[in-house]
Amino acid sequence: MNIDQKTNLYGVVGHPIGHTLGPTMHNAALAASGLNAVYLAFDVQDVEGLVRGMRAFGIRGMSVTIPHKSAVIPFLDQVDELAREIGAVNTISNKEGCLIGYNTDAMGALLALEAKTLVSGKRCLIVGAGGAARAIGFMLRGKGVPLRIANRSSERGAALARDLGCSFVPLSDVEQTNADLLINTTSVGMSPHTEESPVPDRILREGMTVMDIVYNPLETRLLRTANQRGCVTVDGLGMFVHQGAEQFRLWTGLEAPIETMSQAVRKVLHRGSS
Ligand SMILES: NC(=O)c1ccc[n+]([C@@H]2O[C@H](COP(=O)([O-])OP(=O)(O)OC[C@H]3O[C@@H](n4cnc5c(N)ncnc54)[C@H](OP(=O)(O)O)[C@@H]3O)[C@@H](O)[C@H]2O)c1
Repeated sequence: MNIDQKTNLYGVVGHPIGHTLGPTMHNAALAASGLNAVYLAFDVQDVEGLVRGMRAFGIRGMSVTIPHKSAVIPFLDQVDELAREIGAVNTISNKEGCLIGYNTDAMGALLALEAKTLVSGKRCLIVGAGGAARAIGFMLRGKGVPLRIANRSSERGAALARDLGCSFVPLSDVEQTNADLLINTTSVGMSPHTEESPVPDRILREGMTVMDIVYNPLETRLLRTANQRGCVTVDGLGMFVHQGAEQFRLWTGLEAPIETMSQAVRKVLHRGSS
């Protein structure tokens, strides 16, 4: 890499930020596309400061992660319609000083799902009611998919179900549901708690589609069990790479080298698990 006075800067901002694979994925994409640019990770707690910094330093694009996805919205110049509906921005694009917020998690999840199955006509149970659940819920609602939300905290789960116009079921009653598509959007099962699963094994039936948006490990306990029970499974890497590819396109106007991005992340994940 040749860093010089013309190098463009991109990054990811959140707190904590230590485990992000954004730099691995985006630097692979920037290099493969021959761009004079670099992508760094910034651990920042001051959300207003992060937007001021972006303007002051002319940072071209920023991924936004926990806990700033909603808090950043009032400081932006424009927010696209889907991100506003979801109430969360995971991408900021700096267009000649105008900071525009987007949500690419929603499209990333849909593209990852559609690579494995058709979503239309499926009854979907979304487990979790945080930012990722909101993004996926609004996207699937837009596709006419019948939804149900299950969440540990009833207050948060019921609020999301209300916003989506669907029903809520407490996580403890999830066995009473009968979904064709189950999507885990909680962090349950993520490293180092790899033997945990967000739902009881017995609700996983042959023929069901099970997606886990956790990608570390790539095969979570939920996906392992779902595979054993004859379900179609979708891991979290596809969503991560597709949402990153959408960010790349928004920032550079170029198509993203998806295979390069996927391989770069996969390599780091395999190294971590060996
Ligand atoms: N693959 C991807 O591209 C991608 C993209 C975005 C996010 N993610 C991953 O998705 C996960 C959630 O992200 P987020 O932004 O939605 O986070 P968030 O807004 O903090 O929401 C977290 C959700 O997980 C639930 N939860 C946390 N710990 C739990 C536990 N021990 N038992 C049951 N439920 C629990 C929370 O339930 P309560 O409401 O009860 O607290 C809430 O529904 C993270 O692991 C993140 O890394 C992946």
